[in-house]
Amino acid sequence: MSIIGCLFGGFVMTGAQCDTLSPTGSFGIYFNSTDPTNDDATYIGSAACNSCHPGYAADHLLHGHASALTGIEGQPPAYPAEASQAGVPNAPNGFDFNDIAYVIGGHNKGALFVDTDGFLLTTGETGALAQWNLDFPANGTAAGFAEFAADQVDPLSFDFVQFAALTTGPQAQDSENPSFQDNRPGMAGTFAEAGVQCEACHGPGSNHAPNPGARNLFVDPTGANSCNQCHVQPFGSDGATIPASDGFIAPQAQYAEMRASGGHAEFRCTFCHDPHVSTTYDRPNAIRNECTACHTDINMALHDGMVFTRGDYVEELSCVSCHMPFAGKRFSSANADVVGDLGRMGDTRSHIFRINTDEATFDAMFNEAGNEVARDELDRAAVTLDFVCARCHNGIGAFNISLEGLSGVAVRMHGNLATDEDAAP
Ligand code: HEC
Ligand code: HEC
Ligand code: HEC
Ligand code: HEC
Ligand code: HEC
Ligand code: HEC
Ligand code: HEC
Repeated sequence: MSIIGCLFGGFVMTGAQCDTLSPTGSFGIYFNSTDPTNDDATYIGSAACNSCHPGYAADHLLHGHASALTGIEGQPPAYPAEASQAGVPNAPNGFDFNDIAYVIGGHNKGALFVDTDGFLLTTGETGALAQWNLDFPANGTAAGFAEFAADQVDPLSFDFVQFAALTTGPQAQDSENPSFQDNRPGMAGTFAEAGVQCEACHGPGSNHAPNPGARNLFVDPTGANSCNQCHVQPFGSDGATIPASDGFIAPQAQYAEMRASGGHAEFRCTFCHDPHVSTTYDRPNAIRNECTACHTDINMALHDGMVFTRGDYVEELSCVSCHMPFAGKRFSSANADVVGDLGRMGDTRSHIFRINTDEATFDAMFNEAGNEVARDELDRAAVTLDFVCARCHNGIGAFNISLEGLSGVAVRMHGNLATDEDAAP
């Protein structure tokens, strides 16, 4: 903990804020923070890392990264017992696990299936419900099969473009790498290990394992060479635009969203996240700095101590409730039985943080074509009140408020930012 404070983006930060810049107390003294190849090492697999780093291994196993893609051998994929929602009990109707080569996800929210020829099972091609939804009480989704890509009648390759962000050591197919992963015709390109394992962020480990004291492994304190490349779409792009479809933000676009967040645009993911810990199954340890660690003077905007309840779903109101609404969709979204006609909710929390207090619905959040999040003249995005407030204030969960009413309150939501008594209305 620094006592004298530190500078970030022109702001003087103190105490906990400085710890975010120096998360482990060893910031800047990693021996290799520039060479992701670790001097042209080769991949040795996470089992090797786990034997010497059991603490990191236990955290990582519980994280969605470890289960982003799982190879299947006739049996359903296995997940750690603490991952209480995780599990994919069956293959889609008409298939069994002998027909499946890989399961995508299944750790939180949902799963998709890759067949033994290396093609994604789609509803359009197979006629089966090809997506497994997990229980997701926040948006009212119950476990069960659902449609996936109903318009896709041709086989859908599970190639580099599809698997890059789900694997460790992915390589596109080109003249130097003409291979198909496991020789499956749908899987053009290769990877070293399924899932986002240790070496996805730390680079290949063959030079480190025999000589750990040299600390000859890549540690990327900025996230530029780890987090950012996967948490944009498409893989490896610069995050200058935030892709969207069907009135929701693309699910794997956190880096692009953060770039459009105004105040947090230059942040590293690891200011807030412990890179090894799951936000789904170990929330208290996953976030190393809560909002209030830095925003020490901001009140709870009329919602101090309030608890939202809808059926089995219970949420204690926090800064995240309003500033990180579920504006992204990976597998499922809420229907009007759950959020009313105005309310809107996908399954992935947004990292835009900014709120548009206008009397506007989600279409104002996107460009005309609906395929990108719109920006203001300062290149910032903002989430509309149907996502922010109306997912709760719809008469089904909390009491109903019209869009006009929400806008009237939201515009001065924090009052003078000091005490709840001063907040609107
Ligand atoms: C034979 C045991 C062993 C194996 C196998 C091993 N490590 Fe290590 N690792 C260590 C030790 C010991 C250190 C601490 C060295 C020190 O501080 O002197 C270390 C340090 C590290 C560091 C910190 C580097 C730094 O600059 O501070 C990272 C990251 C790391 N290991 C990741 C991995 C990953 C990823 C793998 C698998 C590819 C792996 N390790 C395999 C023993 C091992
Ligand atoms: C999603 C990316 C990611 C994955 C996957 C990952 N790490 Fe890390 N790791 C990081 C980052 C970033 C740091 C830098 C320190 C920080 O911000 O906590 C780090 C730091 C470390 C350190 C050094 C801690 C220190 O400061 O001395 C070790 C050791 C380590 N990781 C081991 C592992 C092992 C073992 C695995 C697999 C079980 C693993 N990591 C998986 C991103 C990752
Ligand atoms: C190789 C690609 C890749 C890298 C590198 C990567 N991620 Fe991820 N991340 C993913 C994918 C894919 C998922 C979704 C996996 C799932 O839950 O099914 C994910 C999920 C997550 C989740 C939610 C998982 C949970 O268990 O709740 C968090 C948080 C996250 N990533 C943060 C980070 C941070 C921070 C970094 C950098 C330190 C990082 N990621 C680096 C691909 C990556
Ligand atoms: C200002 C703090 C902050 C920053 C910076 C930040 N996150 Fe997060 N992120 C959070 C919090 C808080 C949550 C957990 C919200 C909850 O569920 O309580 C979260 C959740 C997530 C999730 C899970 C979302 C979901 O609903 O499935 C992913 C994935 C993720 N973050 C990735 C990233 C990546 C990648 C970066 C960097 C590009 C990043 N985050 C930067 C605070 C932050
Ligand atoms: C590491 C410190 C830190 C953390 C953690 C943090 N913030 Fe910030 N936040 C800042 C700084 C610095 C700014 C820019 C200066 C300002 O506006 O006060 C900012 C700006 C903002 C803004 C204004 C954005 C704009 O430009 O319009 C919002 C809204 C915000 N933060 C919400 C949150 C929420 C919600 C969380 C928790 C999920 C959070 N912050 C976590 C430091 C932090
Ligand atoms: C009930 C919803 C709600 C909650 C809870 C909430 N906010 Fe806000 N916040 C808003 C709205 C709406 C705005 C935009 C209107 C305004 O600036 O007052 C806003 C604005 C902000 C701003 C930008 C202020 C400015 O002048 O640029 C910051 C920073 C912020 N909130 C941080 C937080 C933090 C930190 C928490 C948790 C302690 C929090 N908010 C809790 C709804 C909420
Ligand atoms: C996670 C759900 C949730 C979100 C998001 C949310 N609220 Fe609320 N809100 C509640 C609950 C629960 C109460 C308390 C209701 C009760 O007592 O019946 C409440 C109470 C209120 C009240 C009455 C406060 C008082 O002092 O009695 C107002 C006004 C309000 N919300 C406006 C908003 C606005 C505007 C937004 C968006 C910027 C918002 N809320 C976002 C759940 C939510």
